[in-house]
Amino acid sequence: MVLMGRIMHGKPVAETIEQWVRGEVDHLRAAHGLVPRLDVALVGRSAASQRYVAKKIESCHRLGMSAHLHTFDDDISAAELRDQVQRLSDDPAVHAILVQLPLPRHIEDPPHGLNKFDVFDAIRGEKDVDGISRFTVPELYRAQADALLHLPATALAVRRMMAFYGVETEGRVAVIVGRNDITAKPIHHMLGGRMCNATAIWLHRYTRKPDHDAFMRAADIIVTSVGSEHYSITAEMVKPGAVVIDVATRVGADGKLHGDADFERVKEVASLITPVPKGVGPVTVAALMENVVRAAQFCAGLRKPGYDFNTGVPAGTEAASLR
Ligand code: GUN
Repeated sequence: MVLMGRIMHGKPVAETIEQWVRGEVDHLRAAHGLVPRLDVALVGRSAASQRYVAKKIESCHRLGMSAHLHTFDDDISAAELRDQVQRLSDDPAVHAILVQLPLPRHIEDPPHGLNKFDVFDAIRGEKDVDGISRFTVPELYRAQADALLHLPATALAVRRMMAFYGVETEGRVAVIVGRNDITAKPIHHMLGGRMCNATAIWLHRYTRKPDHDAFMRAADIIVTSVGSEHYSITAEMVKPGAVVIDVATRVGADGKLHGDADFERVKEVASLITPVPKGVGPVTVAALMENVVRAAQFCAGLRKPGYDFNTGVPAGTEAASLR
């Protein structure tokens, strides 16, 4: 019999990753005099982005790493932002770079000229802890797990959550909802590629409602990252025993954080489900910290590309990573 409604809390997974990060940070400082450094570019004054960024910087400091924030007005041009990011990428003191998303409309989706991808591509692969540039994306697209520099933090968090809670993916039907560059898109490639071998189905705003419901109902694993008040996964849509991983966060009219799934009802149908908050969110921040350590190790020539996904914990110590 399948037990319904086991909750996949993020805390124990985040703690195991953070424990690894602390060990690596201690070793890097003691053996190499190196303190991993993350630089964050934040454009505009979105309260949500400011909150996310503050959390990431706080996490770096709490784990003994360094973090620098670079703020820009929301009328900065794509060319100027790209040049600023390029400057950080060329600076040997900077190990890891993150451009907080979303960017202003004229950079995210301009009718012509430079756009967000030109900004992402100014980050060299070793420093691209969001795994979003042309120097990090191809390995995921090609499913070259051993050559991966950085998997985007949310995808890495989902992978570590699945390993920790024993979610098998091979041959399972996985439905991914959303089209975000740093969440749904990489998660779709990760689950459908040779790393996870699931039958991955990608749903988005142009998916017809009957198709949406039919694919959803067929899913063994649902990973959802929409975050809109117009989108909700109800218990009727979910196959009994399915695993539901809710990556979405949205502040509702009640002032509380909500995911895409109707948690209280869906948990009665799902075998495993992540809550929002306290589900994938804290693991995503921990996974970003894992990538910051990796970035510092790449920059110092102490690590080769690739991840070990056999456990919910990153592989070995820095010494063990010298494969
Ligand atoms: N905005 C919300 N989450 C993220 C994230 O993980 N990375 C970046 N760059 N922007 C975000």
